[in-house]
Amino acid sequence: MKVTIAGAGFYGSTLAQRIAEAGYASEVVLTDIVEGRPQGLALDLMQSRPLARFETRVTGTNTYPETAGSDICVITAGLPRKPGMSRMDLLETNARIVADVTRKLVAESPDTVLVVVSNPLDEMTALAAAVSGLPRSRVMGQAGMLDTARLRHFVAERLGVQTSEVRAMTLGSHGDTMVPVPSQTFVGDRPLTEVLDQASIDEIVQRTRDGGAEVVALLKTGSAYFAPAAAAENMVRAVADNTHEVQPVAAWVDGPYGIEGVYLGVPAVLGRGGVEDVVELDLAAAEVAALRAAGDAVRAKQHEVVALAL
Ligand code: NAI
Ligand code: 2OP
Repeated sequence: MKVTIAGAGFYGSTLAQRIAEAGYASEVVLTDIVEGRPQGLALDLMQSRPLARFETRVTGTNTYPETAGSDICVITAGLPRKPGMSRMDLLETNARIVADVTRKLVAESPDTVLVVVSNPLDEMTALAAAVSGLPRSRVMGQAGMLDTARLRHFVAERLGVQTSEVRAMTLGSHGDTMVPVPSQTFVGDRPLTEVLDQASIDEIVQRTRDGGAEVVALLKTGSAYFAPAAAAENMVRAVADNTHEVQPVAAWVDGPYGIEGVYLGVPAVLGRGGVEDVVELDLAAAEVAALRAAGDAVRAKQHEVVALAL
C-alpha cells in the first residue's frame, strides 16, 4: 500500500506521521515545492521508527516520479487561512495549486484514489475530480469527518462523557452550510435532544460550524491540523483496508436525497474503489432540506472553479 501526500506543511506532515505510525501502508511519499522540506520531514520520521515502533518507509521529494503507483493520494498542498479570512478567500490561489498537483499525481498514478483536503474543500474536490479525469467515485474530500469529530468533542465535553459514547454526523459543505444532523446524534443510546436542551445544542452546532475559525484565531498563523489529519487518516485507512465503513465525506452526489450533480458532504461507504456508495439515511425533512440547500449553495461555485481550470 503506497500513499502519497502532496503538501508537506502542518497537515501533510501530521498526516504522514499518523499513517506511518498506523502501519497499514508500506510506503508514504511526501511531496512539496519547498526544497528540502519533505526530505527533512521524511528523514525525521524515519529516525523515529525504532521509538515509535513502525516500519513504514517515508520518503520526501520535490518531483513526482517517486509517487508513481500510489494507491491513495492526499492533496494538502495550498495555503491555509489567516485570522479573518474565510476558506473562500483561498479559492484562486489554491485552485491553481490543486489543479497542477492533481495533474502531476494522476499522471504517475492513474489508478489512485484521491482524497482532497485543500480549502475551500468542496470546490477543490470538484476541481480535482474534473482535472484528474478519474471516475468520480475515486475522488473525495475531507470535511465531514473533521466537523463530526469536533461536534462529538463538544458534546462529550459539555456532558462530561467519553467521546466514544457520542455518535454524530455532520453533512453538507465545509463552511457556513455545514449541516448537523440531530436525528443521527446519540449519547449512548439516547438521542441528543433528550440529554441537552435546544439552546445548548444550537450553541454547540454553531461552535462546530466555526470550529476551524476558532483555532485559526488562536494560532494567529496557520490553521488546525491535529484533528484534520486524524480525519483524513481515518478515510485513508478505510480505503486502504477496504473496510466498507460509512463515513461523512465530500462525495459526488447525483440522485440521493434528491440532490443532483455536486460534491457534497454525505455519508458514504468507503473501500478500495473509493466511494462505493452514497448512503441515504432516514433524515428528518428539515435535515434533507438543509442538505439540499447546502448542495445549491456550493454547486454554482464548483461549476465556476471547474470551468476556470479546464
Ligand atoms: P501549510 O501552509 O502548513 O502547508 C501547505 C503546504 O503546501 C506548504 O508546505 C507549501 O509549500 C505546499 N505547497 C504549496 N504549493 C504547492 C505545490 N504547488 N505543490 C506542492 N506543495 C505545495 O498549510 P496546512 O495547515 O498544511 O493546510 C493545508 C491546506 O489544508 C490548506 O488549504 C488548509 O486550508 C486546508 N485544510 C483543510 C481542512 C479540511 O478539513 N478540509 C482542515 C485543515 C486545513
Ligand atoms: C478547518 O476547519 C481550516 O478547514 C480548516 O480547521
